[in-house]
Amino acid sequence: MRAGLEILGVTKTYANGYRALHGVDVHIPDRRLTTLLGPSGCGKTTLLRLVAGLERPDAGHLIFHGEDVTSKSAEQRDLSLVFQNYALFPYLSVEDNVCYGLRMQGLSVASQRERSTQAIALVGLHGLEKRMPHELSGGQQQRTALARALALQPRILLLDEPLSNLDSNLRRHIREDIRALQQRLELTVLYVTHDHAEAMSVSDRVVVMQEGRIVQIGSPRDLYERPLSEFIAGFMGDAATFDAEVNIQGLVHLGPLQIGPYPGLRRGAVRVVVRPHAWRIAPASSAGLPGKVLRSAFLGPSSEVCVRTTLGEILVQIPSEGTAYTPGAPVSLFLSAQGVSVLLPSIFSNVPEPLVQL
Ligand SMILES: Nc1ncnc2c1ncn2[C@@H]1O[C@H](COP(=O)(O)OP(=O)(O)OP(=O)(O)O)[C@@H](O)[C@H]1O
Ligand SMILES: [Mg+2]
Repeated sequence: MRAGLEILGVTKTYANGYRALHGVDVHIPDRRLTTLLGPSGCGKTTLLRLVAGLERPDAGHLIFHGEDVTSKSAEQRDLSLVFQNYALFPYLSVEDNVCYGLRMQGLSVASQRERSTQAIALVGLHGLEKRMPHELSGGQQQRTALARALALQPRILLLDEPLSNLDSNLRRHIREDIRALQQRLELTVLYVTHDHAEAMSVSDRVVVMQEGRIVQIGSPRDLYERPLSEFIAGFMGDAATFDAEVNIQGLVHLGPLQIGPYPGLRRGAVRVVVRPHAWRIAPASSAGLPGKVLRSAFLGPSSEVCVRTTLGEILVQIPSEGTAYTPGAPVSLFLSAQGVSVLLPSIFSNVPEPLVQL
């Protein structure tokens, strides 16, 4: 038995015949924060609702700490869900919102008060207990929803895009709070988002979904540095992909550039994913990939330089303190090992197997 939640072969077809999940297999480890990441409509909420017991799968099983909970109701599963739009009860105060579920569970008034005081303090809302939802900011409302879920002391906390209604500063602030709370209380959290930066910043593990399937599972670094497909590479941040050739020694040829050798790479065509920070730029010389600067943008600590080359237009990210490159300047591009990975054509269609990391 593995601690945590095992999702085994779960398939879900809606009443209109639409199949939203196709045989999903994933382990959600205990005391960790796992993120479901994927574009709109890929089935994240559907999977979360199945875990919560709000929907039933057509096939497959949900095993929670070794116990099959597939046919158990939502109440019997001992988990809390914070929805995409966190709907607080508008006519209940912060405290009463937080106590609501506890009352439903039949806790004594004294225990309700103790748990809610604790949860409200945990999310930093101490002093606002008597406020009504309309007297709170968006962030405070979001924290109230979180306190309401935490007060239930669930075995798993399910968060469906909990920051979607907040501005970017608040999103960052609250996601840091959620992560800190999760680590301090060692909570098991399943967190849904379509924002890769959010997923990277809060997660122990990220599960990437595409069209009702899991396409990769790994740490934020794994997914960024070793994406299994162009879709994942692009979804995890800026990336350009190029056709390249592997020679008999395992060297990867990308235009005039050569990287490697990499044992295990077989001779033939591959696609290479390159992050903007993997490029090095230098004044034009006979070495490297020749190009001409099209434009550059200062972004604070780093700058982006767009270079026209025979491989197409390439976006290069460089530290701002270095040389400034002005439009029209002839340059040469080189590749560093960090931020380059090879996609092998044979694995495009099927899931996970680690990729070669350059
Ligand atoms: N009740 C339903 N009946 C039929 N199809 C549905 C139903 N609910 C969701 N779907 C479809 O199932 C697919 C997955 O929906 P889901 O809500 O799980 O996506 P999501 O990944 O959470 O997307 P988002 O990021 O936009 O919230 C979508 O194509 C959606 O249109
Ligand atoms: Mg959703």
